[in-house]
Amino acid sequence: MSILVIGGTGTLGRQIVKQALDEGYQVKCLVRDFRRGAFLKDWGAELVYGDLSIPSTLPLAFKGVNIVIDSATVRSTSSYTSERIDWRGKLAILEASKLAGIKKFISFSVLNAAKNPSIPLMALKLKMEKKLEQSGINYTIFQCSGFFQGLISQYAIPILEKQPIWITSESTNINYIDTSDVAKFTLRSLALKEAECKEFPLVGLKAWNSKEIIQLCERLSGQAAKITQIPLGILILLKTVTGFFEWGTNISERLAFAEVLATGNNFTAEMQNTYDIFAFDKNDTISLESYMQDYFGRILRRLKELSDEKERSL
Ligand SMILES: NC(=O)c1ccc[n+]([C@@H]2O[C@H](COP(=O)([O-])OP(=O)(O)OC[C@H]3O[C@@H](n4cnc5c(N)ncnc54)[C@H](OP(=O)(O)O)[C@@H]3O)[C@@H](O)[C@H]2O)c1
Repeated sequence: MSILVIGGTGTLGRQIVKQALDEGYQVKCLVRDFRRGAFLKDWGAELVYGDLSIPSTLPLAFKGVNIVIDSATVRSTSSYTSERIDWRGKLAILEASKLAGIKKFISFSVLNAAKNPSIPLMALKLKMEKKLEQSGINYTIFQCSGFFQGLISQYAIPILEKQPIWITSESTNINYIDTSDVAKFTLRSLALKEAECKEFPLVGLKAWNSKEIIQLCERLSGQAAKITQIPLGILILLKTVTGFFEWGTNISERLAFAEVLATGNNFTAEMQNTYDIFAFDKNDTISLESYMQDYFGRILRRLKELSDEKERSL
């Protein structure tokens, strides 16, 4: 079976590529920059050029492919809008999939998208879910919460670098999940009849709020965080101002996301049904504690080595 991964250079995509190759699938990755995708080629994937912002570049990549796994999304630093990538680009890959007679299409949506239509990216994800359901293609949609990996830049690095962490007075709980666990469910769904034409929530075992994550990082790093609380009113004002400018559209969307988080909507879901269907033992999932322990352990060891080297050279 040949898999086309779209978004293979991304946080989740790379885990999917790695596990798919380990399981013996032939993997093609649609990339817009061969240099950025070079590590995927080193792992054994074939690279094909394609850019979601230019639909005409897409169809060629689908040649000889049975399965499409789409883990692409607009980058927060991108000059493109989410509408261009996560809607028009996605419609183009759905069309190309139909034409190529794709047997299975896996897509990633956002948990609670239906409850938050005011956030443009969530509204697009929801529209895309509907399009897939109506497409006639055999699909599986995973509705994810946040990924562990995003917490490194949000909390761990600022604590290590003694930079301020901006939080609101939120009490929102989020069941973050490790992308390697998401990849495991993704690979299992490929041969699972019960996963055909269905949506599944896919979140971690435990819910965390910002303060708990900061406390965990403080404990593991042995350093105190510099916390700056931002009032909700300022967040809304910033969102409105950035939304006026084209360059600020993605920032404005992220701030809209932050606003939803600040108003206490929890991003949690009951997972038992998903575990049962995928025959997944919840004790096999990676906890945030062990993920962070591993991260800080590696970084602190490296910092110690660098400091020892410096001392020896004096
Ligand atoms: N991150 C989260 O916490 C979270 C939460 C819920 C759901 N999700 C969903 O999970 C999926 C994976 O998210 P992620 O965080 O792993 O994404 P990510 O790390 O931001 O990666 C995005 C991927 O999309 C690719 N991409 C962006 N624009 C493109 C374009 N014009 N043409 C071709 N490729 C393009 C990027 O390629 P380049 O390397 O070339 O930029 C990259 O491979 C997405 O569907 C996302 O919405 C994520």
